[in-house]
Amino acid sequence: MSDNYLLTNIAHLIGILGPEVSKLKGREMDGLESIHNAFVLVRNGIIVDYGSMDKCPTLEIETIDLSNKWVMPAFVDSHTHLVFAAPRHNEYVMRINGKTYAEIAADGGGILNSAKKLQALTEDQLFDMAYAHSCKAIQAGTAALEIKSGYGLTTDSEIKMLRVIKRLKETLPITVKATFLGAHAFPLEFKENHQGYINLIINEMLPIISRENLADFIDVFCDEGFYSVEETKQILAAAIKIGLKPKIHGNELGLTGGVQVAVEFNALSVDHLEHIGDEEINCLKESMTMPVALPGSSFFLKIPYTPARKIIDVGLPIALASDFNPGSSPNYNMWFVWSLACLYNGMTPTEGFNALTINAACAMGIHQTHGSITIGKKANLIVTRSFEHINEMPYWFTQNHVEQIFTSK
Ligand code: NIG
Ligand code: FE
Repeated sequence: MSDNYLLTNIAHLIGILGPEVSKLKGREMDGLESIHNAFVLVRNGIIVDYGSMDKCPTLEIETIDLSNKWVMPAFVDSHTHLVFAAPRHNEYVMRINGKTYAEIAADGGGILNSAKKLQALTEDQLFDMAYAHSCKAIQAGTAALEIKSGYGLTTDSEIKMLRVIKRLKETLPITVKATFLGAHAFPLEFKENHQGYINLIINEMLPIISRENLADFIDVFCDEGFYSVEETKQILAAAIKIGLKPKIHGNELGLTGGVQVAVEFNALSVDHLEHIGDEEINCLKESMTMPVALPGSSFFLKIPYTPARKIIDVGLPIALASDFNPGSSPNYNMWFVWSLACLYNGMTPTEGFNALTINAACAMGIHQTHGSITIGKKANLIVTRSFEHINEMPYWFTQNHVEQIFTSK
């Protein structure tokens, strides 16, 4: 497929926004602009024109007739851990038998289990697996990925993960952003010496990341049994100095100050929020930080769902992401995330759509180029069959509606 083409006779083109829109919040989230019987013109991978078929230009250009098809912006997945060594089906069964995620983690399973396996693999082995996962995600409609480190937990292995992500950036046909999540858990040898590991992050890992330009964002798992607010602040302050923008894992396991620290450090997003009270909501209202719900992990861990309805009803924006990882969300399919968000986070299908596209792009800092049908944005487009209504898309839960995907990085 070339980077220059004209899509014609599109039955329904959805997800159109003006270039000034960086995110949708409150009631705006339930709005959807669309055109029946539309065209889209793409040059050099950029949307240069779109509109109703009666205004379609006549051009000598590769033309694709999309009669009876819908076209929408591709999904943006702003939160994944897709570089990992192995699945964790043993823990899945332990949880079926009654153990909790927190109990398994406290016993040295969970993230530490993934770290032990990842430390034993080479960069090439990890790259091959991550590349395969990414390709499947793209086939399911994702055209921008944020990918975190955090299963290394030693300097060598964290850097190894980030180099894998750098190679994914170079080789995948989509935009990839790298997040350094060295503060995902404390390695066993630092269980009683948290400061020792934090020093390693600050004095050893961050300088290499800066030198090799290995990350865009910094993340910390600021939660009960993981990183305290004070520990999080130390790491964020050091990472900001080398130009990394914060994205926080917060309020998954308790009301432990994750939201407040994210807002204080002007984080791009604060993700999880299964536990969120009025104080956290008020704090988000005063900020530019995007709340991100991860219904895949609520589903898989059988923990509460982020109260998206409440968040939207107070006028805030919200984004959705897959959290694709081997422990809490072995799923990259954003269609399923969409269905879960409607059924369990209380979102309408249109709110879910906007949360998976423009707001997700905002949570990844790429709203100027991704997340909507807008002149000047990259042509990341999904072609689906025709539906009676957008509500029908998440209704068919677990179905991948992608018939064709156009990507541009
Ligand atoms: O977002 N909560 C922290 N991190 C990941 C899960 C990591 C794991 O269990 O491997 C998450 O759910
Ligand atoms: Fe996560």
